[in-house]
Amino acid sequence: MAAIQSCVHTSHQLKNWLLQLDMAEVLVLYGSQTGTAEDVAESVGRALTRHYIANRVVAMDDYNIAELVQQPLALFICSTTGQGETPDNMRKFWRFLLQKRLPLTSLAALRYSCFGLGDTSYPKFNFVAKKLHKRLQQLGGTAVADLGLADDQHALGVEGALQPWLQQALTAVQRLPLLLITQMQSCTSG
Ligand SMILES: Cc1cc2nc3c(=O)[nH]c(=O)nc-3n(C[C@H](O)[C@H](O)[C@H](O)COP(=O)(O)O)c2cc1C
Repeated sequence: MAAIQSCVHTSHQLKNWLLQLDMAEVLVLYGSQTGTAEDVAESVGRALTRHYIANRVVAMDDYNIAELVQQPLALFICSTTGQGETPDNMRKFWRFLLQKRLPLTSLAALRYSCFGLGDTSYPKFNFVAKKLHKRLQQLGGTAVADLGLADDQHALGVEGALQPWLQQALTAVQRLPLLLITQMQSCTSG
């Protein structure tokens, strides 16, 4: 009887894990004023694809933000424009996230990392990515890689910060399904 119960329990868990695996599409959300952050987001998407990781690249304001609470993994790529302002195509998204009524556990299921594009010749260097990173953390999200900050003044341009960040982010992303598979194996063998 105990064996049957444990088997039913395991198959239920297995179903849940498979569902989670199915949802393990990495979301790449971007905010870009003149197209550079969008290009970076597309190249991050291609890097994920090369590693056989399902992904979707979308502008923040074109994304249904209500789905973010169920999203296991998201990479945010955004520039800073004006004097420390958000790009036009992430304004709505950012306004939503800033609402005071949002519970501080809203994004407890989310693992994320932010990559910002900016220029140290501006006083508010990478202001938007820094604020976004902080707010996601405040809402319960867990950062899986350090905040990446690109600087137009870097000798290698955006690439100078992108490659080290991408390495970290890819390692973190690859850990999620491995973790689930390891969990499944330890349960089914035990
Ligand atoms: C008009 C303008 C304003 C900018 N303001 C800032 C700023 O306040 N802080 C910053 O770090 N970078 C600033 N930048 C640099 C951009 O963030 C950087 O060039 C970035 O790569 C642009 O990405 P995008 O094309 O996706 O908007 C500014 C650039 C421009 C052209």
